[in-house]
Amino acid sequence: MNRSWAFLIAPLACCAAVASPPAAPGDPDSRARATEKQLTPQERLTLVHGIMPLPGQPVQVPPDAIVGAGYVASVPRLGIPALKETDASLGVAWIMGLRKDGATALPSGLALAATWNPTLAQEGGAMIAREALAKGFNVLLAGGANLAREPRNGRNFEYLGEDPWLAGTIDGASVQGIQSQHVLSTIKHFALNDQETGRHFANVVIDETAARESDLLAFEIAIERGQPGSIMCSYNRVNGPYACDNSHLLNDVLKDEWKYKGFVMSDWGAVPGLDAALHGLDQQSGAQLDAKTWFDAPLGEAVAKDSTYAARLGEMSRRILRSIFEIGLDAYPPKAQPIDFATNAKVAEEEARQAIVLLRNEHGTLPLDASPKRIAVIGGYADSGVMSGGGSSQVQGEGGPAVAVPLGGDGPFADFIAQQWHRGSPLAAFARRAPKAEVTFRDGRYVSEAVAAARKADLAIVFATQWMTEGFDAADLSLPQGQDELIAAVTAANPRTIVVLETGGPVLMPWLARTAAVLEAWYPGTRGAEAIASVIFGEVNPSGRLPVTFPASLDQLPNPVLPGSDSIEPDFLGNGKPGQTLTIDYSREGADVGYRWYARKQLRPLFPFGFGLSYTT
Ligand code: BGC
Repeated sequence: MNRSWAFLIAPLACCAAVASPPAAPGDPDSRARATEKQLTPQERLTLVHGIMPLPGQPVQVPPDAIVGAGYVASVPRLGIPALKETDASLGVAWIMGLRKDGATALPSGLALAATWNPTLAQEGGAMIAREALAKGFNVLLAGGANLAREPRNGRNFEYLGEDPWLAGTIDGASVQGIQSQHVLSTIKHFALNDQETGRHFANVVIDETAARESDLLAFEIAIERGQPGSIMCSYNRVNGPYACDNSHLLNDVLKDEWKYKGFVMSDWGAVPGLDAALHGLDQQSGAQLDAKTWFDAPLGEAVAKDSTYAARLGEMSRRILRSIFEIGLDAYPPKAQPIDFATNAKVAEEEARQAIVLLRNEHGTLPLDASPKRIAVIGGYADSGVMSGGGSSQVQGEGGPAVAVPLGGDGPFADFIAQQWHRGSPLAAFARRAPKAEVTFRDGRYVSEAVAAARKADLAIVFATQWMTEGFDAADLSLPQGQDELIAAVTAANPRTIVVLETGGPVLMPWLARTAAVLEAWYPGTRGAEAIASVIFGEVNPSGRLPVTFPASLDQLPNPVLPGSDSIEPDFLGNGKPGQTLTIDYSREGADVGYRWYARKQLRPLFPFGFGLSYTT
């Protein structure tokens, strides 16, 4: 972070109370209709656009805004609260450390999906919502439901795997949990935003039936089950128009066919023009990131001249009001209060324990008993913490990351591209469980040193990480920075080698056959270290099952080369250079995402969807 920003943060008030008259009688529809009639034209416009309330942005940040992803002003005379929005896929977001208050980090979305447990999803959602309320927020930009159609997608860790039923069920449960606390949730990013490369301009081409039976189906199920107050449309184009300007997606599918009653908010900087209002978009978010605040003065001028716009503005306001009333944002305002992090960490830990997938366990290597005298732990900053995913969903506990490794850039957004580890050391968690053993650590930078340590030990535990982030995809599915070579060398030195993977999604494992055991721990969150240790030492019988296929090679993928990776210069957050175009053609696999593709092509993956061992036979 650019340090000169820090002093700007302090003056922004947290958790200002909202004037809240007792909830008015009536169902949310009639209340929304009655309230909308009382709005002045300017108040209607107030409801339909928001800003990103960050210091140093070209907007005036109102005193009651909290540093976070979004803010939509209140209409106090009618008891309509401001919308105070935070990213929250995995916890209340760290927002580049601009607010110093930490939050409980749940394991990644893929980890949650690997539990196959909607009850945990609901509990996790409710936990995040309570933390959000205590910090002054009433809207969570949570609920990522994009399918893991592209295993190299930088944001798969925020999503829930490759199967529409699994993703939709888990997502719906998370949203239910969030909204049970009277906090409004989104479901995002609608739709087909399945890779980050070129996300701001790529045109996804897919036929209608295929879309309905895959990506859209996940959203349909999640929406039906979760009844989210809002849907966030995505950056990309879908069969031509931008998703936030796409009448077919927003009007025909979402609102007419699925009878969705909430409102559509844009992704941040995803609104191409004023007519998005006619094409189904109800609210422009983070408007300073678009070319214009279309849903303020330009919309006001159109409304004054044209009754079509006027009717739409009325409907846009009613939809927003309806969600506010239905979820009770007016009646249950956020209240600043201390957070019981110890209790919330238990939610994160239980999720991580159920999420870890045992991929290989030769000769009953795991669980470990008390016999090893010397354990060599290697790599992955396992002496300090567990890996987390980057971008807007980044969460950090109080005090910030255990380790942050910047990957370049400067200014505040450089924090977006810093690999970050949550506090909590697996090494220490192992040492506590094996008090008689000598547990050593080598960081893995020098293969020779790691090999020497492994050779001397009864067994080696190698931690391997694949950092993924919003804005960038993985170029391939190898473990970066020489980790494949490190594992190969360590397994050659000591056949009793256990590999613990902390990855954003599937990876290839050229060294697999030489390992004794492999665990996929995903990004395991605040209590990841304890969860990993409790599986390795047999306090927990592993029950996680893969929510995504692990391919045997890139050749098995419908697109062996990531679309755009050979033509687009990667740049910050996938914004792209002016004039760039990209077509992402999903006609090859169509609806056959993930395991359906492998079945159709009769391919044998490295590990199939649903795979996972346990300690029983
Ligand atoms: C992301 C959204 C996020 C928003 C606000 C966008 O770049 O795509 O997921 O909610 O920023 O931070």
